[in-house]
Amino acid sequence: MLLVSNSSAILGSGLRSPEEADMTSYKENRTAQIRLVSSHNEVYEPCDDSFALVDALLADRSNLLEHSPTMCMEIGCGSGYVITSLALILGPERGGVNYIATDINPNAVKVTHETLDAHGVDAELILTDIASGLENRLAGLVDVMVVNPPYVPTPEDEVGAEGIISSWAGGENGRRVIDRVLPVADHLLSEKGWLYMVTLTANNPSEICLQMKKKGYASKIIIQRSTEEESLHIIKFWRDSDTTVDEVTDQSLIGFLGSLLSQIPLFSLWRGSTSNDNC
Ligand SMILES: C[S@@+](CC[C@H](N)C(=O)[O-])C[C@H]1O[C@@H](n2cnc3c(N)ncnc32)[C@H](O)[C@@H]1O
Repeated sequence: MLLVSNSSAILGSGLRSPEEADMTSYKENRTAQIRLVSSHNEVYEPCDDSFALVDALLADRSNLLEHSPTMCMEIGCGSGYVITSLALILGPERGGVNYIATDINPNAVKVTHETLDAHGVDAELILTDIASGLENRLAGLVDVMVVNPPYVPTPEDEVGAEGIISSWAGGENGRRVIDRVLPVADHLLSEKGWLYMVTLTANNPSEICLQMKKKGYASKIIIQRSTEEESLHIIKFWRDSDTTVDEVTDQSLIGFLGSLLSQIPLFSLWRGSTSNDNC
């Protein structure tokens, strides 16, 4: 685990001086500016899934502000577009919010560092596998977690491969990394913690919701977008004491969740929607 912080470049308020960063545009837009997002040929560039995740955060902004998180975390930060946007959505001028982001790719940590700096946002960056080494320090402390995992179904041996492949390679059903993230999220999230995660239809999001339901989480699809090839769901999870699977069998719940998902119309072109559907 390697720890990097961009805090030395930051002035006291969490914002750099106007000469160093174009504060006006990103404060108005509330998301990271693509022209200020750094890049590297071995680092995942912000793509439709990254935009859908940030759109979900924007759609949920009023709830996020009311939620008033003190610890926000991204697992798999890539270019830094999402964690930077989250900080801007919450308002970098609001003090007392800590941001932490991890990635297994050292180039991603470097690029995220540059993206944060370009926007005058402060975060702690850690080169590690998911959240390895942070289990004790962050247990029960994370109020908002965002994850756009490698979710593409691929041969198993591509999962965790060096460089850009690890950005998308998800192994069987694209679930290899997702299935490792879920228990970590459960361990790190605070009692009021929220998890926003990107999933693909091929990942079987209903079954992911069921797994989380067994851990006591309710879930909701915030955004669903489709192409001819794939359908993305941005799912929000939160602890809910009323959420148990005691009275229903797994099969009946999977059928119920599957029918809910199948009611969402799929269009052949990308489209955006915010949704109140429970997952
Ligand atoms: C689909 S990309 C998303 C990047 C960025 N969050 C975004 O939305 O644009 C997935 C990211 O997860 C990282 N990643 C893959 N496996 C990981 C692991 N085991 N632990 C931490 N990060 C991982 C990849 O290096 C990549 O940066």
